[in-house]
Amino acid sequence: MSQTLIESPAWRALQLQAQTMRERRLASLFEADPRRAQDFALDICGLHLDYSKQKLDAQTRELLLALARQQQVAEGVARMFAGERINATEHRAVLHVALRAPRGTTIGVDGEDQVARVQEVIARMRDFAERVRDGRWRGATGQPIRDVVNIGIGGSDLGPRMVCDALADFADGPRTQFVANVDGAQLSATIAGLDPATTLFIITSKTFTTQETMANAGAARAWLVAALGEAAVARHFVAVSTNAEAVAAFGIASDNMFEFWDWVGGRYSVWSAVGLSVMLAIGPDRFGEWLAGAHAMDEHFRSADLARNMPVLLALVAVWNFNFLGYSTQVVAPYAQRLEFFVPWLQQLEMESNGKRVHRSGVPVTVRTTPAIWGDVGTNSQHAFFQMLHQGSEVHPVDFILPIEAAHPLAEQQAMLIANCLAQSAALMQGKTAEQVREELSAKLSGEALEAAIPHRVFPGDRPSNTILLRRLEPRSLGALMALYEHRTYVLSLLWDIHAFDQWGVELGKQLAKDLLRAMNGDTVTLDPSTAALLARVQRGS
Ligand code: F6P
Repeated sequence: MSQTLIESPAWRALQLQAQTMRERRLASLFEADPRRAQDFALDICGLHLDYSKQKLDAQTRELLLALARQQQVAEGVARMFAGERINATEHRAVLHVALRAPRGTTIGVDGEDQVARVQEVIARMRDFAERVRDGRWRGATGQPIRDVVNIGIGGSDLGPRMVCDALADFADGPRTQFVANVDGAQLSATIAGLDPATTLFIITSKTFTTQETMANAGAARAWLVAALGEAAVARHFVAVSTNAEAVAAFGIASDNMFEFWDWVGGRYSVWSAVGLSVMLAIGPDRFGEWLAGAHAMDEHFRSADLARNMPVLLALVAVWNFNFLGYSTQVVAPYAQRLEFFVPWLQQLEMESNGKRVHRSGVPVTVRTTPAIWGDVGTNSQHAFFQMLHQGSEVHPVDFILPIEAAHPLAEQQAMLIANCLAQSAALMQGKTAEQVREELSAKLSGEALEAAIPHRVFPGDRPSNTILLRRLEPRSLGALMALYEHRTYVLSLLWDIHAFDQWGVELGKQLAKDLLRAMNGDTVTLDPSTAALLARVQRGS
């Protein structure tokens, strides 16, 4: 199957279909189908997905579903939930769904139930979080914890950072902050405003070997020890990891370690103890609601027909846009300031998962895999890159994400936010013709001046988007939204026949950084001429 994906019947049929659909304008699709706005929409787990502004019709959707059947998407989904080792290159199961499965359900790996293990850790997290939040857990000088600093990077940072920010309106625990970058500026700026006596560090690292995290953790530890002494470490440092030995070697006792497992991928790990900062911020009950929101989406994903399956449809639309219509990137624009970190979280999720160049069998891919994902919150993004989306020479499909109700009292501004979001997708689709521009300008301009002005003001339109509506940004809906995109990512990997759960591509740079550090410390290291010249300049200081 892998070698011939591009020649496979379903792929070929879609290529032919794309030739026709490219010629059709979105407006004509609405004219041809009065029920289009309803027929190309879906309501699941409190989320409303409108994909009617995508350049596809019912026949295209059938052909996309045929691709999903050809690529055995349903079977792939079943394999994940069955705990099969679908992360084949690391020989691991992929069970982030077990992290949000309710107590009493069973999801096994090699016959051993994992849900019970998860629930044990959640109970420990709950106990710890409650003690920190109600002040029973005290720092070394007897004061309660006011600030929590999560030190981690990649999946050990982006998930909890995004969720803490997204659910800040529900936070009633200690303040949470995040340090990821090896650039010491971030840790320095963070601790500058903190009192060691009331600060708790969570060192979050699946491997507990990641260079950036270990460097920041060591520096934070030195800062704390300088102020409060070595004995204070036990009251101010906890760890989240799969590597108990390395945690012990760092000097964190097993009582202060929260475990997770190799079947949790880093970018899917926020649902595990990696989310401890989230639980500290919003409390265990709301944390439970957030898990429940994700679980509801898991159940939908596991059991719904492909044709009514929201993650599957979202993935099929993405493949249609990228592989068949040729749009080379995917924009995500959440219209919610609280979702400021959603795009970075999604970038790791999708691009670390599906940024692959070989099929599962190891042969080079015959089709393109993952578009670049980028974006930012609306309305800020309208004043940054939307010009290109409306009038640039390339088409970039957009996912708009819009919570309808706000948690703040500024109702008028929420109305403006909503109006802007809906206006952008409408404008991208409708565009503006030369005739319309001529009519608008004719009162002010005429003759040559009018004709010269027109082309700059024309919008081609016909640019596709999805809109996802949430009633409100709250734990449950956020959980469902995140799980939706996680499952979309997996479905995409099945459609492209690539492995989604390893990330070998990050290793080479890590290795070379170690070599360069050795070179900077005076060791003889073989470097390419350009890198050697750059290093020499750096060492000269200019
Ligand atoms: O960037 C590579 C990566 O391995 C990610 O997959 C992971 O989320 C991140 O580094 C951090 O890894 P760890 O949690 O082991 O420190």
